[in-house]
Amino acid sequence: MIGAFEHLVRPLLHALDPEDAHVLTLKLLKFAPVLPVARDDPRLAVRAFGLNFPNPVGMAAGFDKNAEVPDVLLRLGFGFVEVGTVTPKPQPGNPRPRLFRLPGDEGVINRLGFNSEGAEAVLRRLAARADRGGIVGVNVGANKDSADRIDDYVRQIDMFAPVASYFTCNISSPNTPGLRDLQQGSVFDELTARVVEARERVSVQAGPTPVLIKIAPDLTLNELDDVVAIARRRKVDGMIVGNTTVLRPDWLKDQATAKEAGGLSGRPLFKLATRMLAETYVRAEGAFPLIGTGGIDSGETALAKIRAGACLVQVYSSLVFRGLAMIGEIKSFLASELRRGAHAGLDELVGADAAAMTAEAWPE
Ligand SMILES: Cc1cc2nc3c(=O)[nH]c(=O)nc-3n(C[C@H](O)[C@H](O)[C@H](O)COP(=O)(O)O)c2cc1C
Repeated sequence: MIGAFEHLVRPLLHALDPEDAHVLTLKLLKFAPVLPVARDDPRLAVRAFGLNFPNPVGMAAGFDKNAEVPDVLLRLGFGFVEVGTVTPKPQPGNPRPRLFRLPGDEGVINRLGFNSEGAEAVLRRLAARADRGGIVGVNVGANKDSADRIDDYVRQIDMFAPVASYFTCNISSPNTPGLRDLQQGSVFDELTARVVEARERVSVQAGPTPVLIKIAPDLTLNELDDVVAIARRRKVDGMIVGNTTVLRPDWLKDQATAKEAGGLSGRPLFKLATRMLAETYVRAEGAFPLIGTGGIDSGETALAKIRAGACLVQVYSSLVFRGLAMIGEIKSFLASELRRGAHAGLDELVGADAAAMTAEAWPE
């Protein structure tokens, strides 16, 4: 049913400016009929970070920045939803246009720059749905004009602990100048120390709430060595690999749009992000689980992320080109792979190809 509806609506959405289409999509979702939640194949269940996920396919951050539709997304079949990035104070983000489609490449470029209604508005919405269950993570970021960016992460962990299933510290958006410097050496060490300290503090009242770090696919391998070593030492709960890339492969078909500044996502990101995931997996040595994101657009690409080291995956850009029906397709594919290989669960496949992938030539 979703497929048929989208088939009709997608040409209309693609005729609109990408950001107008996004706003309209959120509106349509708000008024979507309340569908019964279809039960997932029990073999797709994943336990990670102390949480029980009904299936491994999540909605990536950036789609529902202000927590307007997490329950609709859960009912549509996502195993979890990550809202945000939320900033402590409301801020408008960069001037429009700031979102671009690359249809020939099935890619997206965005330079939204953390447009956020701010933590208070998002907290109100999440508090109103708190007893509905489902895994809803809160992705937190820093205000552009913040005097103490690390404090922006810490304060939001304090604020959202009663309503968040987990936290993601987004230190890898390319669209807030200087934000990605939080991934470097001593600054990253301080950030992880302080967010883990906040995690311990809030756990007294709110119970354990895992804290994940979302990294850029553009780190050098030396930088990744440091990031993983520090994350292990500081005992963060997991990592998301990764955010959008500032790179522009020269094989992109939509070369004119590729000149736009911002982060590239979708299909052109798949190879780089999957390689970085495998590189992270071999460095983490099982110390914490990973979420794989970047260019997933099918069951096969989701499985490749799992075999590269992800126990959970997230999607965003491919929904623009393929629609929500893809979520069901990915889940069916994964379930049939498990049956075919007589595997009890996806954990048997996590990281199966990681070492081999890291020996391949670097993806162009
Ligand atoms: C329009 C857009 C907005 C995004 N906003 C955020 C954001 O606010 N916070 C964040 O951590 N990631 C954000 N992302 C990155 C996605 O969460 C994801 O990491 C990235 O797009 C790779 O996945 P994909 O190829 O499936 O889109 C955004 C991506 C897009 C396309």
